[in-house]
Amino acid sequence: MAKNEFNRRNFLQTSAIGASALSLSAASAARVYGANEKINIAFLGVGGRCQQHVDVILQMQKENKNVVPFAVCDVWDGDPKLGNGKGRGLYPTAERCGINVNDKTRVSRDYRKILELKDVDVACIATPDHWHARMSIDAMNAGKDVYCEKPMTRTIAEAQEVVDAAKKSNRVMSVGVQSMADPTWTEAYDYVRSGKLGKVFQGQTSYYRNYLGGQWRYYPITKEMNPKTIDWEMFLGNKFECAGAKIGPSSKEVPFDRAVWAQWRCYWPFGGGMFTDLFVHQTTHLISAMGVRYPARVIGGGGIYLEYDGRDVPDVATIVADYDEGCQVIISATMCNDTQLGEMIRGRLGTLKFTGGGDYMKGFEVYGQNIAGGPAKPKEGFDKPIHTFTNEKAGNATYALWANFLDCVKARKRETLSTPELGAAAFTTVAMGVQSYRTGKGLFWDKSARKPIDADSSWATKLEARSKQGGKPSQIIGWQGGDNGSVVVPPDYMKLGGPWINGQDPSEPGAKKTSISTPNVSNETEVAEASNSRSGILSKLRRKLKGAGE
Ligand SMILES: NC(=O)c1ccc[n+]([C@@H]2O[C@H](COP(=O)([O-])OP(=O)(O)OC[C@H]3O[C@@H](n4cnc5c(N)ncnc54)[C@H](O)[C@@H]3O)[C@@H](O)[C@H]2O)c1
Repeated sequence: MAKNEFNRRNFLQTSAIGASALSLSAASAARVYGANEKINIAFLGVGGRCQQHVDVILQMQKENKNVVPFAVCDVWDGDPKLGNGKGRGLYPTAERCGINVNDKTRVSRDYRKILELKDVDVACIATPDHWHARMSIDAMNAGKDVYCEKPMTRTIAEAQEVVDAAKKSNRVMSVGVQSMADPTWTEAYDYVRSGKLGKVFQGQTSYYRNYLGGQWRYYPITKEMNPKTIDWEMFLGNKFECAGAKIGPSSKEVPFDRAVWAQWRCYWPFGGGMFTDLFVHQTTHLISAMGVRYPARVIGGGGIYLEYDGRDVPDVATIVADYDEGCQVIISATMCNDTQLGEMIRGRLGTLKFTGGGDYMKGFEVYGQNIAGGPAKPKEGFDKPIHTFTNEKAGNATYALWANFLDCVKARKRETLSTPELGAAAFTTVAMGVQSYRTGKGLFWDKSARKPIDADSSWATKLEARSKQGGKPSQIIGWQGGDNGSVVVPPDYMKLGGPWINGQDPSEPGAKKTSISTPNVSNETEVAEASNSRSGILSKLRRKLKGAGE
């Protein structure tokens, strides 16, 4: 059966299912893959990272997985010596893919020509960040499925447009956060939402490293990288727009500079430094494990404290993101010291600590909490884990993410392991961090307008009001834990608290209670007394705590 018959049949099927499918153009109608049908891949932006995608596809080809490296695009002719002799750039990559370098239809500096090829099924986008959204949207509108490198886009508005384009065109898209192929994060989410960790308060992650030459300056530049071998205008993208803005600066604003081209991560017009390059990996998997998506409020801090080498982006950065689900995420990095903060999720009854690092974690361990605590010096919780998950998966996570993506392409399933919806939420978090850092303002996420707005006092005011009214805590998405680890059990003497109205002691029978006040435990004797009167409650909580490991 000819390909277009498959298209037509499937299009008719999908249009019968839902009204949204009626908006599909013929080009974007989902294709049905026959058992032996090949999936043709076009690589757009074949620099350093894309060589790993080419490796995966060539490996799959060896394994008779019916994938074909079909076309390549780059604005740079390339250098066969780079990339440990594998080469990088247009012509060396075409050669690696077994494509005739003189075939101008399948080897091009202009991605639009490649997307016009009807035989291209999948666009793999690994250009610098400022091109991700424009290319993803164009590819999906041309009826291609998309594997796009992280960060999904360069701006928040673009991320929303990519989500809309993916939904509208019904294309399959994976965002290249390969750690999403690691089952540790889903396993952690199942544990957390079951309530065994108690109310979830805080997650933390980091991406610390150190390089003498200045972060990202390790991408080499050579004399051959010049205006003849690089299409500078096409790199900048000033003639292209996305989400109502030009995607890149003009050559007047940024004249040709091989260091800007090769080390674009150091400059705001092309990326977001550590925030978007590195935090996005950690944020994607941490928010999926914690059961949150868009933050309610974000503050970004940091600065350039050492790397004064002409860069725009900070060498120390931290984001604090707060969520309507009643919890917080801390993401931190410096590029001048490689000791990590550690990745963990803190709940009322325990702390889930992720072990190992890299694309595949070793797994996680859960440590119970001593809720009897009371005021004390900072210290660690219990010595031994009450629960351990060991991740059996190892190897090449990029391969695994591709395998899942291609399965979804064949099955016409939009729920890849790394969807654009998740990609947009993670990207928005870190990009709000950039915006907050650069403007000096805290930001709220406006859910209905789908954009950040300046924060004000309403966040704290709202929570303070909830406290006064003795409200209930909010919980993470999919919470199944009921009240487990989510209640405050006030000491008996709290009955004595409350405002004295008309001189009446609130603890006397018949006194009006107008608000709940907080205890004012200020010295060690009072603390000891408080602990004694709570002993019954605490032993009950301890029993619960033991149950947390079951
Ligand atoms: N998932 C991961 O672990 C991982 C690792 C590294 C990089 N990345 C991501 O991959 C992307 C590429 O990073 P990199 O390190 O390979 O950068 P790179 O600079 O080595 O490669 C980018 C390539 O895109 C080309 N390019 C620029 N504009 C283009 C255009 N308009 N059309 C076609 N080609 C164009 C450049 O010439 C270059 O060859 C980035 O978004 C980065 O965040 C992801």
